[in-house]
Amino acid sequence: EAESSVYRERIKKRLQERNAVLIAHYYTDPEIQALAEETGGFIGDSLEMARFGARHEAQTLVVAGVRFMGETAKILSPEKRVLMPTLEATCSLDVGCPADEFAAFCDQHPDRTVVVYANTSAAVKARADWVVTSSIALDVVRHLKDQGQKILWAPDKHLGDYVRRETGADVLLWDGACIVHEEFKAKGVLDLKKVHPGAAVLVHPESPQSMVEVADVVGSTSQLLKAARELPNDTFIVATDRGIFYKMQQENPQRRFMEAPTAGNGATCRSCAHCPWMAMNSLERMLRVLDDEQPSNPEEIHVSPDLIDQALKPLTRMLEFPR
Ligand code: 13P
Ligand code: SF4
Repeated sequence: EAESSVYRERIKKRLQERNAVLIAHYYTDPEIQALAEETGGFIGDSLEMARFGARHEAQTLVVAGVRFMGETAKILSPEKRVLMPTLEATCSLDVGCPADEFAAFCDQHPDRTVVVYANTSAAVKARADWVVTSSIALDVVRHLKDQGQKILWAPDKHLGDYVRRETGADVLLWDGACIVHEEFKAKGVLDLKKVHPGAAVLVHPESPQSMVEVADVVGSTSQLLKAARELPNDTFIVATDRGIFYKMQQENPQRRFMEAPTAGNGATCRSCAHCPWMAMNSLERMLRVLDDEQPSNPEEIHVSPDLIDQALKPLTRMLEFPR
């Protein structure tokens, strides 16, 4: 605790000295989110993080999340310096969708509009017609369907299949998944509901269909937070990364939030409701990156001007999409 308060104080000082702002995802550890709040930074879902970074006047953005979030920030603000606690923080969706294989897949289906989830590399975004996050995916795909377009969706097959079922659009899926959300088990939720019959079930759509079927609300991180504030229930079973409990509990101190059960009730799952890459965003790493005075920082995001040019188009479409 003493050590972490030393880190926090030094990080705060460095953020000021460097005209830097901290932008954290809801899945980062509570101490990182608290620091973002204390320093006038931001906590949000992946779409809100992108918007905040682009609008904020700070010259340096410190993105606590996973690599695609840092890349998106850089694409939207190429003139800013974008640092991350570690560039090793990736995402199973990004890893499972290499740009060359994805381009070959797109080439095989030239009649389809390419919609990619934000959880992808800049190179994959550059090949897309649209980028979407989970908070806007349904709206965009409904719009494309109304225009008579067929969709090629990547990389998350669970979210893509959810979008297909909800919109009725013709959606061809890439085979990717989130290692955190795919572990949630509907049977475990139903068992837990027997003990807590009044609990509402909140599910992120990166979870399998069986989970969506037992959900009261399906939505992105910010949509689940909204449900936790607005539903009448006192108890909630939540199927998303446990990092979200920081905000959920803060916004609803009287309510009870429980993790949805994972494979083997938490005993044998690979990730147990916490993303191992989000967990890499430690205070220690954040301080190290801010302490580094060298002009070339090993944890700085770089995206080539060509890629920025190409990836900006589908990203801008998302940001300008009327909501
Ligand atoms: P949101 O877009 O709901 O924030 O979720 C994205 C995600 O899974 C980040 O890891
Ligand atoms: Fe990727 Fe899942 Fe981690 Fe989000 S929680 S960064 S989707 S692996």
